Amino acid sequence: MTGGTRGIGNAIAKRLLADGFRVVITGRDAAGAEKSAAGLSADTGRCRGIALDVAQFDRVQEAVKELGRETGGIDILVNNAGITRDDVLLRMKEEDWDAVLSTNLKGAFACAKAVIRDMVKKRWGRIVNVASIVGAMGNAGQANYVAAKAGMIGLTKTLAREYATRGITANAVAPGFIETDMTAALDEAARGRLLAQIPMERFGTMDDVAAAVAYLVSDEAAYVTGQVLHVNGGMLM
Ligand code: NAI
Repeated sequence: MTGGTRGIGNAIAKRLLADGFRVVITGRDAAGAEKSAAGLSADTGRCRGIALDVAQFDRVQEAVKELGRETGGIDILVNNAGITRDDVLLRMKEEDWDAVLSTNLKGAFACAKAVIRDMVKKRWGRIVNVASIVGAMGNAGQANYVAAKAGMIGLTKTLAREYATRGITANAVAPGFIETDMTAALDEAARGRLLAQIPMERFGTMDDVAAAVAYLVSDEAAYVTGQVLHVNGGMLM
């Protein structure tokens, strides 16, 4: 999976390890990734951390090849890595657009491209893209992020159609507002305004998102493909 050193990705890695999978997490520096992996499992055979910037297309292809040789191949890809560079369109800089699209959308393409050939050969694979509620509803101040997340949803549906007959499913999980450092930093008024829009009147937990990913990669979800599983407490229906 991409990311995994902290936040939602870390919770997904923890859950997939608990479900019995071997997991590779990625961070932008090797030491940090290895440290996070060690925190997730003392068994280096079950959880590894490698350095990988998903925005570097060629490096992604090399890293996945290397991993394939070492592990016998990647069966499941979770595209979780994501960044934000928020501003209203009037002030959004070209580099903020490019950075967000490169990591969030092109990164997902690069990783899918790197794993798909082996999945086709094995006639089994699972791809889960971590999108966002805003990819479906838009969000002021996030034109770059929303475009990338909506793009990931389109990418998901296309992969689902292209590889449906090869035993490969592709789905997206679209979290709403989740308890992370980002939402913890909101002031009371902003929190209140958001909570008023959520029928369950609470933010989601990282485990709520991890559970959705765990379902989509499981054998029980074999007939589910091209879907967006919204995890948002009813904020968008
Ligand atoms: P976070 O900022 O805590 O973690 C992001 C992860 O992505 C980190 O592990 C980071 O190292 C990795 N990453 C960033 N750029 C990378 C790159 N170029 N190459 C490789 N790895 C890179 O974010 P958080 O909140 O855990 O979000 C995880 C995913 O969930 C993101 O895709 C985010 O857009 C999405 N999401 C988060 C929501 C929230 O409420 N926090 C809501 C909806 C979606």
